[in-house]
Amino acid sequence: MADAGAERKRTRRRVVALDPNADPGADPAMPDPDQRLSGLAIGIDVGGTGVKAALVDLATAKLVSPRVREKTPQPSTPEAVAVTIASVVRRTLEGIEVPEVVPVGCGLPGIVKAGRLASAANIDPGWVGWPATENIGAAVGRPVHIVNDADAAGLAELAFGAARGRDGTVLLLTLGTGIGSALFVDGRLVPNTEFGHLEFHGQDAETLISGAARERRGLGWKAWAKQFNLYLARVELYFSPDLIIFGGGVSKEWAKWGKLIKTRCEVVTATFLNTSGIIGAAYAAGAQARTEAQVRPEAPVRPEAPAIDQGA
Ligand code: BGC
Repeated sequence: MADAGAERKRTRRRVVALDPNADPGADPAMPDPDQRLSGLAIGIDVGGTGVKAALVDLATAKLVSPRVREKTPQPSTPEAVAVTIASVVRRTLEGIEVPEVVPVGCGLPGIVKAGRLASAANIDPGWVGWPATENIGAAVGRPVHIVNDADAAGLAELAFGAARGRDGTVLLLTLGTGIGSALFVDGRLVPNTEFGHLEFHGQDAETLISGAARERRGLGWKAWAKQFNLYLARVELYFSPDLIIFGGGVSKEWAKWGKLIKTRCEVVTATFLNTSGIIGAAYAAGAQARTEAQVRPEAPVRPEAPAIDQGA
């Protein structure tokens, strides 16, 4: 019981309210369901343990640079993480000539509003309200677009993976340090859904049943799945999804727990397990750059992908 109390306290401290001053008009554009992109963007996935990056061909979702990973600095203050982001971008582009207009999409573990985080459950609370788009842009010297990390993973699945061409209500859940969610209605993203923080047994769900929570609590797959099924039943009751896609580190172990999952709707694992955050963040940045180019026709057009072997 003492543990549960400490858990609750920690959760309350880390999840903060939406910024009441956020201007909804300043939110980034999300790609249209039928939008198809071309050209390049750099995708970054900022997680609790690692910051990953690669250059992505937006027409095919192929990584056209090696995937670079560095440890997330601890504490994960925005200033420290921005230095790491600049470093992974530099290393990603080593030996590749990529014009300065090629944008960077950055997936972050929190609610994204008007270029800032409005919550920070698994990252330093200093992120909340910090002008992320502006400051990361200054650190990398390129246009930057920030997006929630689970929304980014969902966009990758929508454009190229398990959610491609799917109408109805599609939900992606990423199971890792926390639980992230991306909700699509007829292919359109409802951003910042944060279903990992639904109340579950009187607590914040992800503190009990995320991948990290399973390990911390020493739960076997059977015991974890029993609780996770109750959570899924709640999610189905609220949103009646037609399809649930499981992503994140835990989904790599699908063989161990997939058969234990009970839902009314169809369930599948994500097409991109390691790279969905990178691909989706790049895709969101490409979509934003295209929207801006349409609003400002004089904006430079991104070049086509150079021929670079994947993993070269
Ligand atoms: C955050 C979400 C994020 C998820 C996965 C949660 O704690 O609140 O914004 O998508 O973790 O990283």
